[in-house]
Amino acid sequence: MSTKTYTTWMRLPGIMLIVMLLGGSIAAGCNSKPAPGSGQEIYTRYCATCHMGDGNGIENAFPPIRETEWSNGDKGRLIRLVLYGMQGPIEVKGKSYNNVMTPHNFLTDEQVAAVLTYVRSNFGNDADAVVAEEVSRVRAAEGDRSLYQSERLVYRIGIPEPDSTLSTQ
Ligand code: HEC
Repeated sequence: MSTKTYTTWMRLPGIMLIVMLLGGSIAAGCNSKPAPGSGQEIYTRYCATCHMGDGNGIENAFPPIRETEWSNGDKGRLIRLVLYGMQGPIEVKGKSYNNVMTPHNFLTDEQVAAVLTYVRSNFGNDADAVVAEEVSRVRAAEGDRSLYQSERLVYRIGIPEPDSTLSTQ
């Protein structure tokens, strides 16, 4: 075997690897856009501006949603938070925040369920899914309310019964 043939033969696996990697990244590129209406797409569109794509938030301004008590905790509280927003002092992972999260009650029950299910099963979170019916029950009970104060929302836990109405201001 001459040196030339030997070196060409040796390079072949490397060339094949490059071709495979290129092919793979092109395929991944096509899939990197989340499906419309998916929890990921809603997160990217409506939440990532403040909580960032990686869920780490911005120090002193927007809290992380990664591995937090709110993300993994009570679903009723989380749904109220997304629908009506919140302002006032809170502590997340030992750090203080005192800012405003805007309401998202323009999202449908399905969209709120999808984005919260996505948040609760990504970013290191591990909590059960939120279904549209739960969002609908919270919405029906809370009505057309305004922004929640943090010290109040903290205790607003649980999904209301289907026929319950609350007067909460
Ligand atoms: C305008 C910026 C903004 C947007 C948009 C926003 N948030 Fe927030 N979010 C905040 C702020 C600020 C707080 C803390 C509010 C406070 O200080 O009382 C917060 C609090 C939270 C919390 C509770 C604390 C924690 O970090 O665990 C969760 C969970 C959360 N947001 C999820 C979401 C989700 C899901 C969306 C999208 C549907 C969203 N947020 C959109 C700014 C935002």
